[in-house]
Amino acid sequence: MPESVDVLFRPFSLKSLKLKNRIVMAPMTRSFSPHGVPTPEVAAYYRRRAGEVGLIISEGTVVGRAASSNDPDVPHFHGEQALAGWQRVIDEVHAAGGAMAPQIWHMGVIRPHASGWLPTAPFEGPSGLIMPGERGGVEMSEADIVDTIAAFGQAARDAKRLGFDAVEIHGAHGYLIDQFFWSGTNKRTDRFGGPTLPERSRLATDIVAAVRAAVGEDLVVILRLSQWKQQDFAVKLAKTPAEMAAWLLPLAEAGVDIFHCSQRRFWQPEFEGSDLNFAGWAKKLTGKTTITVGSVGLSGEFIAGFQGESSHPSALDELLRRLERGDFDLVAVGRAILSDPEWVRKVRENRTQQLLDFTREALATLW
Ligand SMILES: Cc1cc2nc3c(=O)[nH]c(=O)nc-3n(C[C@H](O)[C@H](O)[C@H](O)COP(=O)(O)O)c2cc1C
Repeated sequence: MPESVDVLFRPFSLKSLKLKNRIVMAPMTRSFSPHGVPTPEVAAYYRRRAGEVGLIISEGTVVGRAASSNDPDVPHFHGEQALAGWQRVIDEVHAAGGAMAPQIWHMGVIRPHASGWLPTAPFEGPSGLIMPGERGGVEMSEADIVDTIAAFGQAARDAKRLGFDAVEIHGAHGYLIDQFFWSGTNKRTDRFGGPTLPERSRLATDIVAAVRAAVGEDLVVILRLSQWKQQDFAVKLAKTPAEMAAWLLPLAEAGVDIFHCSQRRFWQPEFEGSDLNFAGWAKKLTGKTTITVGSVGLSGEFIAGFQGESSHPSALDELLRRLERGDFDLVAVGRAILSDPEWVRKVRENRTQQLLDFTREALATLW
């Protein structure tokens, strides 16, 4: 690795959040929490990474709505037993010197899980659509939406009470909040829909405001966003910098401290005429802290990884160039840290020849 990795290991601080370096463990669903309760093995998995990673973002953990999940083994962030499981997780992460945010999540309208398990209420979303033209659930009433906003607020309040260091709201990848952003899945004509992206951002701004009200000013609130959808990689919510500003500024105003800008490949430019990526534009347009993500340190991207494609370690030069230039503040790393709890240390110590491949087999265990 020709460039020095030092820039990745500069400390970072924002409000009450103090990080030893710029590396964030990306949120990754593991489905190892039976009945939604994180086990001691889940706590040990995060603890194993906490000594070296700057900030751990948990796997998506669902808020208290009957239909917020399609998977019985995805952790809940509500209910006494699940929250006791999370208490163990954050205590162990802190004991190892780490910092952590839960990623609070509602899946929205989603296909049933392969196991055939179904929640006790039908899947719900802005217009009952899983993708344009395809129904997969029910249209949420205004009362459902109000209750969902409150459920995010409650999860954030619980995160603070348990001692988490920040909270991340999952607004990306075609799940509930993103189903509201996307005109393909939001056909509403009430105040949660409309022809423009700022109109369809109403659910998100209300959730951000509820989360902010729940945690106070000093706890960092992160919002994860993506232009792409798992339903359609080619979708772009904001097609120009002006549209992106109109999308992000009200969210910043509502209380977002950090935009976590999800791309499948971090080096891809967001708009023509500039090499800035999504995190680069989000920082430039809002002045907020941003996190980049997407195939850092690996040759292949993560959706292909699910389908069995292996990824090999790749150089960090381009990432370091952009970080040094100030495009973004923090860097999230997913699969490389999932496969190897030692990844950060190996990078820090320049032991690049010891970095591991990512293969689908890594998903089968919680090491
Ligand atoms: C097994 C797995 C589970 C994931 N689950 C989530 C999730 O719960 N929430 C989320 O926002 N992203 C999720 N992602 C996406 C990652 O956070 C990350 O954006 C993606 O893997 C790209 O980073 P990478 O190339 O470093 O792996 C998941 C990715 C993987 C590989």
